Amino acid sequence: MDKYVIEGGRPLYGEVEIQSAKNAVLPLLAASVLTDEQVVIRRCPRIADVLNMVQILGELGCKTCFEGDALVIDPAAAANHEIPPALARELRSSVFLLGSVVARFGRARIAYPGGCDIGLRPVDLHLQGLRRLGVDVREEGGSIVCACEGARGAEVVLDCPSVGATENILLASVTAKGSTLIRNAAREPEIVDLQNFLNKMGGKIAGAGTSVIAVEGVPRLHGTEHTPLPDRIEAGTFLIAAAMCGGKLALRGAKSENIASLAHKLREISCKIHAKDDKIYIECVGARRSPKLVETSPYPGFPTDLQAPMTALACICEGSTVIVENLFETRFKHVPELIRMGADITVRGRSAFVRGVPALHGADVCASDLRGGAALTLAAISAEGCSTVVDLGFIDRGYSDFEGKLRAAGARIRRVRV
Ligand code: UD1
Repeated sequence: MDKYVIEGGRPLYGEVEIQSAKNAVLPLLAASVLTDEQVVIRRCPRIADVLNMVQILGELGCKTCFEGDALVIDPAAAANHEIPPALARELRSSVFLLGSVVARFGRARIAYPGGCDIGLRPVDLHLQGLRRLGVDVREEGGSIVCACEGARGAEVVLDCPSVGATENILLASVTAKGSTLIRNAAREPEIVDLQNFLNKMGGKIAGAGTSVIAVEGVPRLHGTEHTPLPDRIEAGTFLIAAAMCGGKLALRGAKSENIASLAHKLREISCKIHAKDDKIYIECVGARRSPKLVETSPYPGFPTDLQAPMTALACICEGSTVIVENLFETRFKHVPELIRMGADITVRGRSAFVRGVPALHGADVCASDLRGGAALTLAAISAEGCSTVVDLGFIDRGYSDFEGKLRAAGARIRRVRV
């Protein structure tokens, strides 16, 4: 197990290259089993969640290899329809494979998926959607078992705009007979990326990015090459890092239109942000004003995945901030750790009340989920004194070389084996 050893208090300067989006790559990997031809994902980040998904593809019978930073998938020999329970429990996105595996093989079996413990995270909407498409879904001893002679298009109305359910239904319907309409679909940019990818494979999908997605089923899909969109959550994490540490950063390859809700909050705090070509620039000097209210909601609202880093930032803003977490029930596990660093926060239900302090101080803290772990790292690099952050396995799920990128920008952070 590794830990970060951090000496805080240095501003950040320079340029950070943004990786491809974790939440785009994972559904693309699931989509790759829909064809028997070669699929290439360029700029594929070697983060733990991706490597786990690649391992699952291998278990299904796909051949995979990295050529530089491109992941080459040959799904021709895929034959297995069972996702091994140990891997399914490693990451929640394994559930996307239900849609694509049942579409390709007519059956699929997966243990209830794992992922970060940030709330109940049910999959009922995924299963309801699959049932609407004619898939027989049963639950057998902790596993979900799907069978289908041939999915048929249908109208699917989601009770809430779930990202994963929207993606799963897309994967199951792209080769179904007839048309599918997904209403109250999630509008995240990663869903647009999945639509673009499936259309490059020969799919006929329109409307992703809006709340109504129309799918005209096609008999088969072919191979393709694709560069996923940049990671707006990684970009947001580095913007918040600059806001906390002070300094001036340029994020290369980031899409400013996908982080508008965060940019709005950072401007309220008094950071200067602008975008030019494929870069986002942030400059933060002097006092930070509290953003008053940060409320998470589905895209294009403030992303729940940036709630923890934003809470860390609010800790050192002048004034008070109310943070409301509307998506996940237990997503405040970073709060007790921030309090160890001198933060003044009270949690009541889904809200955290943060009273700003002039600075955090170093402490030994423990990551307990991916974005919470990133938030603690940002708190430590901006704090006065030394900190350690343990349980880096959570951070490795979603950030490639997080410490290397922070160090290149001037942070004093080392990864050491314990
Ligand atoms: C995806 C992202 C995750 C992000 C989340 C919300 C990926 C791989 N992960 O997760 O990083 O935090 O979107 O932006 O893309 N829900 C149900 N029933 C379901 C499914 C979801 O009630 O069947 C509820 C959830 O409990 C939650 C809300 O819907 O309250 C949103 O969840 P969802 O959009 O499905 O999140 P994920 O796809 O799991």
